[in-house]
Amino acid sequence: MRRRTRTAGDLAGLYDDASKSWARMSRRFRLETAYREPLFASGVAEALVGQEALVLDCGVASGSLSLALASITTDSPEYHCIDTSGAMLAAADAELRRAGIAARLQQSDIRTIPYPDRTFDVAMAAHVLEHLAEPDVALREMVRVLKPGGILFACMTRRFVFGTFVQLRWRTWMVSERQGIARLREIGLDDIGFQPIGLGFGAGQASTAFWARKPVGTVRLSRTEGITPRGEPAR
Ligand SMILES: C[S@@+](CC[C@H](N)C(=O)[O-])C[C@H]1O[C@@H](n2cnc3c(N)ncnc32)[C@H](O)[C@@H]1O
Repeated sequence: MRRRTRTAGDLAGLYDDASKSWARMSRRFRLETAYREPLFASGVAEALVGQEALVLDCGVASGSLSLALASITTDSPEYHCIDTSGAMLAAADAELRRAGIAARLQQSDIRTIPYPDRTFDVAMAAHVLEHLAEPDVALREMVRVLKPGGILFACMTRRFVFGTFVQLRWRTWMVSERQGIARLREIGLDDIGFQPIGLGFGAGQASTAFWARKPVGTVRLSRTEGITPRGEPAR
């Protein structure tokens, strides 16, 4: 089935409406716990040790991914979080404050990240790219704002029965591990890894976490490369 992704305005409205129950729903699916293991495996926590590091969380919602990272890091990086939904940013603010995490929150789109090139040590996004008709635009933006040697971390819905329910509700697409790796490789990233994520509430291994490092040399970001909406390899 071919799906037409929702427009940015539609999606922001839907997530505004969902924001009141999002933190509760995230706890039910044990998102924070689920993100911890792949974050650890990705080397993100080690990369943040002993420096004044900057982390970008794109599509932060109520903050599960930042909360997960904060729970496995000893040093406290500076968190910058963006989301197109203003109500979700308010939810993130409440959750992150409660956990004692100081974060800068901004209402912006992952496709036009409002930061200069080479700003962040880590750029991450969980369950955001699959909403976009042109996820490669967002991926390129994440790579652009990463420092050379910085880590990109992205979780996406995988081809799995639970993903079909998510697709019907949110008109998202799913990506196989092979396709995700191929995209990160084509963008020119190094040290690519992945791990399926087990979610709570009976959702099973519904997502995959991917990670990769921005090379210290130049990364070529051609417009013809990237993930296509349905996760098929770009021709
Ligand atoms: C499925 S939620 C995931 C939230 C969070 N990362 C987590 O794992 O709990 C997707 C979030 O991405 C946001 N979002 C959707 N499209 C976006 C875009 N183009 N730019 C930034 N945020 C976006 C939504 O408003 C929502 O808060």
